[in-house]
Amino acid sequence: MNRHEKQELLKKILANRSINCETIPAANKEVSESLYRIEKFPQYLQLHIQREVAERAEIENPFFFVNDSICGAVTQIDGREVVNFSGYNYLGLSGHPKVIQTTAAAASRWGTSAGASRVVGGEKPPHRALERSLADLHGTVDAIVFVSGYMTNVSTIATLVGDGDLVVHDRLAHNSIVQGIQLSGASRRVFPHNDWQALDALLAETRSQFERVLIVSEGLFSMDGDLCPLDRLVEVKHRHKALLMIDEAHSIGAVGATGRGVGEHFSVAPGDVDVWMGTLSKTLAGCGGYVAGSIALVELLKFSASAFVYSVGMPPPMAAAADEALRLMLAEPERVERLRAAAARFLHGARDAGLDTGFSAGINVVPIIIGGSIPAVRLSNNLLKKGISVQPVIYPAVNENGARLRFFMNCDHTPDQIDGAILALTEELRKT
Ligand SMILES: Cc1ncc(COP(=O)(O)O)c(C=O)c1O
Repeated sequence: MNRHEKQELLKKILANRSINCETIPAANKEVSESLYRIEKFPQYLQLHIQREVAERAEIENPFFFVNDSICGAVTQIDGREVVNFSGYNYLGLSGHPKVIQTTAAAASRWGTSAGASRVVGGEKPPHRALERSLADLHGTVDAIVFVSGYMTNVSTIATLVGDGDLVVHDRLAHNSIVQGIQLSGASRRVFPHNDWQALDALLAETRSQFERVLIVSEGLFSMDGDLCPLDRLVEVKHRHKALLMIDEAHSIGAVGATGRGVGEHFSVAPGDVDVWMGTLSKTLAGCGGYVAGSIALVELLKFSASAFVYSVGMPPPMAAAADEALRLMLAEPERVERLRAAAARFLHGARDAGLDTGFSAGINVVPIIIGGSIPAVRLSNNLLKKGISVQPVIYPAVNENGARLRFFMNCDHTPDQIDGAILALTEELRKT
C-alpha cells in the first residue's frame, strides 16, 4: 500500500464510509490509536481533563443525579425532597392522575410499542388522534408526530432544504436546528439574537443567490426565556419569499392566553408560519416531537423525513399521554396563568436582588447568568445542599461568560419556594 493509498484509506475511516476490510493492513503502525480507540479520542480525553479540574476544585458532578419521584415543583433526590427547578413539566401534567390513567389504558389496549415504523406496520388510533389535536392547537390542517423532538428538527429541515438552498437562523437556536441544517447540505447563516432587521438586510443582499430560503427561530428561547419577534419574522418571510419555521418546544403551555404558543401571543394567521414545530416532552408530559402545517408539508414529511419513515412509530401510550395532557392544558387554562405568575414572581424577585436574568421575559424559563462554568456548577452543588435543584448550563452549551443556572418554573411552585430560592441564591453568591 503506497502513501497515497494510505491517505485515501484514512480519509475513508474519518468519513466513516463503508470499508472493505481486506484493504486494511493487519497491523498498520502509522495509524494513530487516537483514530481507532475510543478511549484515545481527543474529545474523550478532554472530558477527563474537565472532570479532573472539577475534582481538584472539589466540585461534584451535577449531572445524572437520580430523581426518584414525579418531577413537579418538588422532587426526591438522595431520599430527600427538594424544590425542583430542573425540569420542564411546566403545567405539572406529567404525573397527573388522568394522564396516568389514560396512558395505562392505552398500554393495555395497544401495547407499549408501535411495533414498527408507521410506514411499515400501520398506525394505531392514538397516533392520528394526537395529530388531529396538535393541528387544532395550531389552527393548521394537519400534523405529524415523530418519536423524538430533537430528530423532528433535524429531519424536517433536512427534508425541506438541500444543496443550493439557504437556512438563516437566530444565533441562539437550539442545537437540533443547527444539526438539521448541517445534515441538509444547505448553506447556513446566522442572524444576531432577535434582530429581524439584520435578517431582513441579510436576505435583501443574498436572497437571489439561493433557491429555497428557510428562516428558523425558536418561539420562546429555551436558554434565555425570551420571545422571538414573530410578527416581524412573518413580514420578512413574505418580503423575501422565504419559508418560516418556528420551534415551539418551550412555548406550548406557557405563551399565549391559553398556552397555544407564540402564534396566539402575536395573533398571526396559522398559515403565516410554514412549519410549526413542537415537542411533547415539556408541557405535554411525554416524549417526541411534531410538525403542524399544510397537507403538502405533512404528506411530504410522512413519505420523505428519514426520522419518520425509518424509525419506529410513537408508542401508543405515549401518544395517548400527550393527547390527554393537551386536553387538560386547554380545559384548565388557570395552569398557564399560575405558571406565568410563578415565573414573573421569580424574575422580579431575582432582578430586585440584583441578579442577572439575561433576556428572560419571565414566562417559564429564567436564567441566572453567573459568567463562568466552574462557579455555575459550584453554585448548583451548594443550592442542592440547601434543598434546591437547579441545573447549570455551561460551556460549550453556552459561551463561557454566559454560563448560568437555568430555572424552569412550574405552575405548582409556591411563593415561599420561589422567594426561598432567590434568598438562597443571593446568600450563596455573596459568599463567592
Ligand atoms: C428548543 C428546543 N427544540 C427541540 C428540542 C428537542 O426536544 P426533545 O428533548 O423533546 O427531543 C429541545 C429540547 O429541550 C429544545 O429546547
